Parts: sequence; C-alpha cells; structure tokens
Amino acid sequence: MNMEGFSFGALSDGTEVHALRLTNAAGASITVLDYGATLQSLRVPDRDGRLVDVVLGYDCAADYERYDMYLGATIGRVGNRIANAAFSLNGVEHRLAANDGANHLHGGLRGFDKRLWEMRAEGDSIVCSRLSPDGEEGYPGDLRVCVRFFLTRDNALRIVYDAEGDRDTPVNLTNHSYFNLNGGGTVLEHRLQVFAERFCEGDAGCLPTGRLLPVEGTPFDFRAEKRIGEDIGAEHVQLLRAGGYDHNYCLSGKHAAVLRSEETGIRMRVETDLPGMQVYSGNFLKRHPGKGGREIERRGALCLETQLYPNAFNCWGFPSPVLRAGQRLHSETVYAFSTF
Ligand code: BGC
Repeated sequence: MNMEGFSFGALSDGTEVHALRLTNAAGASITVLDYGATLQSLRVPDRDGRLVDVVLGYDCAADYERYDMYLGATIGRVGNRIANAAFSLNGVEHRLAANDGANHLHGGLRGFDKRLWEMRAEGDSIVCSRLSPDGEEGYPGDLRVCVRFFLTRDNALRIVYDAEGDRDTPVNLTNHSYFNLNGGGTVLEHRLQVFAERFCEGDAGCLPTGRLLPVEGTPFDFRAEKRIGEDIGAEHVQLLRAGGYDHNYCLSGKHAAVLRSEETGIRMRVETDLPGMQVYSGNFLKRHPGKGGREIERRGALCLETQLYPNAFNCWGFPSPVLRAGQRLHSETVYAFSTF
C-alpha cells in the first residue's frame, strides 16, 4: 500500500483543500478530499489490466464548491429528503434548511458535502472526521462523525461510518458516488442486479409516500440482472415522476447490488448493513465539465446510496433514523471490484 498527499486547490475564501491517495499493489487507488469527505477518484483494473476511474468527479476544489451534484461526497446529517424540511422529536418541532423546494435534501444548504473535514492517513485507510455543531442546518445537538475509507488488497473499497451525538438527533449517512464502470458515456448499457423485492413509492417531489411497492411485474424489477436502459423509458408513473430511477429499494439482506459492464469487464458488488439503497440513474445531472475535461452528462452514472429509508419521520413503519444521545452509530458499506 502506498499513501500520498497533495494539495487540491483552494475554496473561494482561500482555504486550501487536501487530497490523500491510497494505492494498493494491484495499482487500484482511491483519492479522498477533506472537502466533503469526498471520494474524488476510484481507479480499478479492467479485464485487460488497464486502470479505469469508475466515479465522476472534478479536478479542483473550486468545482466541488461551485456545483451541487454531491459527486462522491459524504452526505449528512440526513441523506435524501425530509418533507417540508421539518420533523418533531421528543415533542419538539425542528425546522431544517429547505433546499429542495419546500423540502430538505442531503443535509441542507451546507450539508456535510460542503464542509471541511479533518483528514488523516491511518494504515490502509483514509480517515475523515468532523464535529457537526448543535443547530447546524437545523439539527439538534453536537454530532461527532467519522468516516473511514479502506482499500483492500483485492480491490474493495470499504466505507465505515461512526457517529455519536450529545442529544437525540436523526442521522442517515451515505456516500454519493456516481459510478460509471466504463469511465465515460452513459450507464444505460450497464447491467444491474438489485436484491430487493420492494421499493418505496415516490410522490411528485421524489419523497417516499410510505407505501412499499412490489418490484414484480414492474420496470423496477432488478432481481434478475437487467440493462439499466431496458425499461427506463417505460410509461410507468414512478419513472415518469422521477425522470428515471430515483427510488429507495428495500434490501432483502446484506447483498445489495451487482453492477457490471460488458465493455470493460468490470464488476462491482455492493454490500451493506443498512436496510435501504437509493438507486439513482443521474436523471438530474446537467451537462458540465468533469475530471480531465470529460463531460458529465444526464444518466452518465449510477448512484447506489446505501441508507435508511428516506422521509422516515413521515412514513409509518419505516426504520427510525433517530440516534439517541450517547448511542453509537456504526455502519459499513463495501464496493468490491472484480473482472469477468
Ligand atoms: C436523489 C436525487 C437527487 C440527487 C442529487 C439523489 O440521492 O435521490 O433525487 O437529485 O441525489 O444529486
């Protein structure tokens, strides 16, 4: 394993952003930024041994600050949407920042993705931590968060989340990487398998309504591997509302998904201890320049965001996102790469 650190440019207020890159003996590497605890690059070998960067990103800190796409960022305090940017907990109503119409998305106007973290190298991992102060974006209590990015010898990225607060607060952490196993083009030809029998119905604002719909007999059925583009254009109200896939899948177990590309022969397996995963086909991605001058385009990547079910405060029966004061949150998600 080899670790190198370098400057990643400055934010608009002059603050310098740092990068750490961890490379394994196979040549695979991860690059993480202290801005947003962001996975800036993830390079893995294809079937011919050539390295492919399989996540979208930018070349400089200023672009991460400028754009609101959450590319590769750590999302918190609560990932995805909360209706009407409010929740009540222990009899108290908390107002959150509304940054998606009237709703709250991915932690607010300045979520964890737009914060500077403390970052250090630790063995075979890159560790990012920060204290989210009481009242940040409307959330109650101080919350200590630590995200560890491990790269294994056999090309798996393991992300480990730990958090603890001094007051009861909702927490739902995820990583917002956009995967493209070809390193460019759209993901419509990628093959996807998702181990879920049901998914959350979304309303017009992509908020879960509380109803769980069976995937069977719908374009949402990825229980057997299917091309992402196969049914994405189907006349299904759930697809029409979201402009494609942008839904929480209710995972059947720890094996969440397999994504693969015939073009490069790269296969990615996703495993998690969380109950849900947002399958988002980049429908809202606007065309703009990304890393190495490569254009980022609509449906140019797929997000597989492991998470608790979104909008849980408003949906009876969803797993609670509340982390009690002094309790420890610990969660792990693995993205394991191989070739075929
Ligand atoms: C959400 C999308 C949202 C995107 C923002 C995804 O997690 O589900 O609705 O537009 O993040 O980049």
